[in-house]
Amino acid sequence: MTTETPRQTRQRPHSDDSGASSAYGESLADIYDSLYPTSGPAVDSMVAFLQELRPAPASLLELGVGTGRLAIPLAAHGYRVHGVDASPAMLAKLHENDTTGEVTTAVGDFAALAVEERYDLVLTALNTFFMLPTQEQQIDCLRGIHDALADGGAAVFETYNPQVYHRLTEATTRVGHLAPDALLLDTIQVNQALQSVLVVHTVMGSGRLRKVPEVSRYAWPAEFDVMARLAGLRVIGRWADWDRSPVTDQAEKHVYVVERQTV
Ligand SMILES: C[S@@+](CC[C@H](N)C(=O)[O-])C[C@H]1O[C@@H](n2cnc3c(N)ncnc32)[C@H](O)[C@@H]1O
Repeated sequence: MTTETPRQTRQRPHSDDSGASSAYGESLADIYDSLYPTSGPAVDSMVAFLQELRPAPASLLELGVGTGRLAIPLAAHGYRVHGVDASPAMLAKLHENDTTGEVTTAVGDFAALAVEERYDLVLTALNTFFMLPTQEQQIDCLRGIHDALADGGAAVFETYNPQVYHRLTEATTRVGHLAPDALLLDTIQVNQALQSVLVVHTVMGSGRLRKVPEVSRYAWPAEFDVMARLAGLRVIGRWADWDRSPVTDQAEKHVYVVERQTV
């Protein structure tokens, strides 16, 4: 159990944010909700997955909580949700969206997580874990998660399937519509040796053009297992989606469930 915390954004003793971790959110906060639906089957199946794992009113910490796309529906289903994000602009949007004021937040870098409470669930969704650009930061994040988990708690990760990007040997461009008068163009470059992906999001619309680079580092499933072990955790389940379908080479994503190692 954790105690209620006030709704507004509070500073907590996370590490100094160099700016790199906040750049994505600061540049995309105004259009983020047009990129990813805030309701619908994807959100519903994620809520159902967590309800089965640790039902509400469990306490839940979301890392990289963004505009509250998942945190707000989770709070509406009875979870006590706290979110951490490096981007004040994303959190400002979250509090605009959170009309009932259920979700508490803090600005911070989840590579150096330092939370006062312990949580029944820690959620890192939508590839956000891979936004940590080095193996060291990913292990540090897992160590922070280990310390943030309450006894009997579980951490859940949604990531892309590394194979989806690893097989892109040439620079690739994808187009996505945001709104009738705006367009999103992503150029993707993969460095297979470094397991890194550079996506440059180009947003065009309203007479404006902006470019937002996003670097991610994918970890293969076996590497994720080892990193979890180094952090005192163990992977207890891995699926291709929130519906617990089995992992295949073609799967778009991976969902991991992790618990603390027992001695
Ligand atoms: C792809 S968005 C996901 C937002 C939300 N979880 C969702 O599912 O819609 C990634 C979020 O992680 C945040 N982020 C990226 N790196 C971070 C870091 N090192 N520490 C804290 N937040 C970070 C970004 O600011 C952004 O809001």
